[in-house]
Amino acid sequence: MRKIALALPPLRRLVESRDAALADRALLEQSLREMRAEMARQAASDQAVLMQAMSTDGDARIERTLTMMRAEYTVLPRFGFHQPLDYDQDSLPPHFDPPVILPGESLPLPAPADRFGYPADDALYLHMGGLDAAVVRAAIARHLGAPRDLALLDFGCSSGRVLRHFEVEHQAQGWRPHGVDIQARPIEWLRLHFPQHYMVTTGTVQPHLPFEDNSLDVIYGFSVFTHIKYLWDMWLLELRRVLKPGGLLVQTIHTENAWAFYHRNRDAAWVKQAHAARMTESPTMDVDWFHHGDIAVSQAFWKADVARRNWGRYLEVLELLPPQHEMSFQDVMVCRKPLR
Ligand SMILES: C[S@@+](CC[C@H](N)C(=O)[O-])C[C@H]1O[C@@H](n2cnc3c(N)ncnc32)[C@H](O)[C@@H]1O
Repeated sequence: MRKIALALPPLRRLVESRDAALADRALLEQSLREMRAEMARQAASDQAVLMQAMSTDGDARIERTLTMMRAEYTVLPRFGFHQPLDYDQDSLPPHFDPPVILPGESLPLPAPADRFGYPADDALYLHMGGLDAAVVRAAIARHLGAPRDLALLDFGCSSGRVLRHFEVEHQAQGWRPHGVDIQARPIEWLRLHFPQHYMVTTGTVQPHLPFEDNSLDVIYGFSVFTHIKYLWDMWLLELRRVLKPGGLLVQTIHTENAWAFYHRNRDAAWVKQAHAARMTESPTMDVDWFHHGDIAVSQAFWKADVARRNWGRYLEVLELLPPQHEMSFQDVMVCRKPLR
């Protein structure tokens, strides 16, 4: 009897640990089933992309699609669209079309292929970049006066469409231009074609910037937070970290205005291809915030008052301006890093 009594607690523990192991196993099997389903969904969608490439184009397109897929499965994090230099080509260094040299322009323009979606027409490309630069200049004048020696970062600078316009201030007032982009190719283009005083660097989709604490006076970005679906809050904190106390953050975002713009253009092919049916069906933004799209074309929307509230948690919101010129449909968020 005493022997049985002695054996009972270890037996109970054995039974308990067996039950726990069985429960763990059930959980593991469930996660495995979910992982397999997710992988099957992903494979089906990749296969569809490949089939489309095969049905519409020749070997070059198929090879390019395959290279991109290989990159997505190997080097690319599954969220974000960081594109290393060998993302879509095997040979390095990359080939760039010759830049465009225009009389009166102190910096070369990227060839149309290196403008990453912005106008191929030189005059329009310059005009549009100039309008955006003017938005930043005006915010600086309103909130910082006429500073000299200002350290300026273009967050998501691409091949310098906006940054180039601050060459004037560099020459006249000693402004120090910085640029960061998660795509390596435009950064390499800038390294090859812009002067040494442009501190340009390839970034990461994880919220990290290669700058010291409290080191920048102004950070601006056009059409960047409009694509940041994930970790936007950590990005705001990272931007805040590198801003000097009192420094300015100027970023365009999608609000009800952009939603209405897309709805007005809902029949255009470029809207149909890249935007959720929900947006094109509803004339007004009927949710507080909305994210959609795959990693390459993700879109992020906020209702204006929700953006103010959410951004205001991390930075002091100074103003949220409606689209500032005829070529923009994005609102402009202007924030300041608090002094303390
Ligand atoms: C629509 S483009 C706009 C480019 C540029 N701002 C302009 O207005 O010409 C968006 C850019 O933001 C970059 N980007 C997106 N997320 C980023 C991030 N977390 N850090 C740096 N760049 C980012 C993309 O690689 C892309 O070049």
